[in-house]
Amino acid sequence: MALNMKQQQAGLSRKAARSVSSRAPVVVRAVAAPVAPAAESEAKKAYGVFRLSYDTQNEDASLTRSWKKTVKVAVTGASGNIANHLLFMLASGEVYGKDQPIALQLLGSERSKEALEGVAMELEDSLYPLLREVSIGTDPYDVFGDADWALMIGAKPRGPGMERADLLQQNGEIFQVQGRALNESASRNCKVLVVGNPCNTNALIAMENAPNIPRKNFHALTRLDENRAKCQLALKSGKFYTSVSRMSIWGNHSTTQVPDFVNARIGGLPATDVIRDMKWFREEFTPKVALRGGALIKKWGRSSAASTAVSVADAIRSLVVPTAPGDCFSTGVISDGNPYGVREGLIFSFPCRSKGDGDYEICDNFIVDEWLRAKIRASEDELQKEKECVSHLIGMMGGSCALRGAEDTTVPGEN
Ligand code: LMR
Repeated sequence: MALNMKQQQAGLSRKAARSVSSRAPVVVRAVAAPVAPAAESEAKKAYGVFRLSYDTQNEDASLTRSWKKTVKVAVTGASGNIANHLLFMLASGEVYGKDQPIALQLLGSERSKEALEGVAMELEDSLYPLLREVSIGTDPYDVFGDADWALMIGAKPRGPGMERADLLQQNGEIFQVQGRALNESASRNCKVLVVGNPCNTNALIAMENAPNIPRKNFHALTRLDENRAKCQLALKSGKFYTSVSRMSIWGNHSTTQVPDFVNARIGGLPATDVIRDMKWFREEFTPKVALRGGALIKKWGRSSAASTAVSVADAIRSLVVPTAPGDCFSTGVISDGNPYGVREGLIFSFPCRSKGDGDYEICDNFIVDEWLRAKIRASEDELQKEKECVSHLIGMMGGSCALRGAEDTTVPGEN
């Protein structure tokens, strides 16, 4: 139960207010002075019954003086396993920076409301100074309000006997609704990172339903695959993983993804000069990276959560910290105008670099040899088929779903 208006207007401290309320409200801290009644009811309207603000006027200015303007980060699937790792990394400052205060806007479902309150309580109990506010809700139009970033983790996993086309349909509908909500509520320059699978096509659906937000701002998470590839190169070469650079993933976050060993470097040298074993690259390294998600599910009985959260943090940092000279990072982005001849209108993973301003460009100097070209084409064809299966969700006429009834694997966890 939230504090009632009288308690808030009387400026009761959160602790005092709690003593009159048996179930603690989900809360949080805000930079603002006590909220004026009109603003308060506005805030309540915007965030539902879960949100509270309280007076932080007396906090130590020497701590906050050099801080940037608070960044608003919306997270969907906020009570799930991935978010349970990610939210604490975000709140600690290790992702956006130690001078970057953050407001977390968490989206759950009716079913996960209680769990979401638990998440907010744990965030509160962690005493992160940079965490200025947490709000939770079940309406994406509210939760995405003015968001600078939207981390879209929530999606349904494929159930027994479900075809991939069914998964695309079910999750596609979620991303259609959430895309529309982003379009209406989020900041006009919101950066959107889709994690929920099938993430490339889900990102495409969100993007096509959010014409007010630049197409360039939509990302699908392939950083997890990049990290997995770096790990394998480090293990095989006996070099520490920080010596691996230019390790890029092309295409879909699926079993057709292309971990690019051709352009990768180890200790500044071509990976293929350090590991002189093309058979290993093609027949072991490539499938090992592409099938890693499935291998993990077999061990855990659920999909990867901690390493996915770490890779989301890495993906965000790649956009807010300048890319090291000569290096790149992988992210699934709109293929429009790409320098490699990949069909336009797909969310496709490319090697990218950033100046650290939230924007990026696709690297244009990667060698695409015949082997890479054929693999990239297969992933491109798969994404085109996925797109046709969701044509009705993206305002495209006449698509037909060739995936239905076909032998389908696509998401790494589904092989
Ligand atoms: C992963 O790569 O670990 C996940 O995308 C697997 C899955 O199917 O959820």
